[in-house]
Amino acid sequence: MTPVSGAIAGHVVRWQRSHGRHALPWQNTRDPYRVWLSEIMLQQTQVSVVLGYYERFLARFPDVRALAAAPLDDVLALWSGLGYYSRARNLHRCAQEVVVRHAGAFPPDSEGLRQLPGIGRSTAAAIAAFCFGERTAILDGNVKRVLARVLAFDADLASSASENALWAQANRLVPESSDDMPAYTQGMMDLGATICTARNPSCLLCPLQGACAGRAQGDPGRYPVKTRKLRRSAQSLWLLHAQASDGAVWLERRPTPGVWAGLYCLPLFDSREALAQALPAAARDAAQDAPAFVHVLTHKDLHLHPVQARMQRRTLRREEGGWFTPGQWPALGLPAPVRRLLGG
Ligand code: ADE
Repeated sequence: MTPVSGAIAGHVVRWQRSHGRHALPWQNTRDPYRVWLSEIMLQQTQVSVVLGYYERFLARFPDVRALAAAPLDDVLALWSGLGYYSRARNLHRCAQEVVVRHAGAFPPDSEGLRQLPGIGRSTAAAIAAFCFGERTAILDGNVKRVLARVLAFDADLASSASENALWAQANRLVPESSDDMPAYTQGMMDLGATICTARNPSCLLCPLQGACAGRAQGDPGRYPVKTRKLRRSAQSLWLLHAQASDGAVWLERRPTPGVWAGLYCLPLFDSREALAQALPAAARDAAQDAPAFVHVLTHKDLHLHPVQARMQRRTLRREEGGWFTPGQWPALGLPAPVRRLLGG
């Protein structure tokens, strides 16, 4: 290891211990179940959003056996609103694999962890570093930004060869002592989240300001280099908000794969006409268009058009799905915009 790379780890570790985050509920534990759960929840989701979900999840599923034994629907219901529901399905599968194939104990290294559903290279490294002190690097989106700036890494991260090169650099920079791995790993996350932000990085507060090649060049913001832009699309959907006289609403489980796979949802249609066709004749004229709104997913904007229609239960004829009363909604996995529409 070069003296410079050792110095970088030292700066990060010291800074994390004095200025980093220490009171997050998944810190100060080496329990892989708790750390794994937090890392999955924190993928693509901010700390402030995760806090409440994490607490409710642990209260309901205190250990991996409780989670593995639960019905998937209960898991999806508690995940409802966190988004990216494939994470919840993989989480459940992963818990079952840990119980069945590993006797309830998470594998104690990143190689073993990576074999489990939903655990990618960086997540495996985070769990191994936090729980087992393994000297292995994480490289999530935030850490890519920090390292690309510190190293003035100008290869295009859209190519997997350059991404692999950055992984190699990341692994070269980890501390020599495994005792420092939890603070180093958390420190890289904390730097990316609070100092080395995508826009307007706070370089004057950064422990790596003296070592940062991007800053030395005068424009750290030009890193990381990534040419392939996310291509966003838009889709319009009409939602049938069918309500019976007792307040029950018709819900159907969404197919896998697709938007909101596995969740319960109002019936979705590609056009207002298709929705009207599905209505019982007696409900068609009185159906009311509610205000449309946009729901933003990672890759697309959904333009949602709810249509409210009152009807007798027996008049709605659809193949899959059923009537669910308001008392049943809290236990269902519902997409966040649907839960809002129902007022639950
Ligand atoms: N994002 C991903 N992992 C995290 C962690 N352990 N703490 C804070 N934010 C994170």
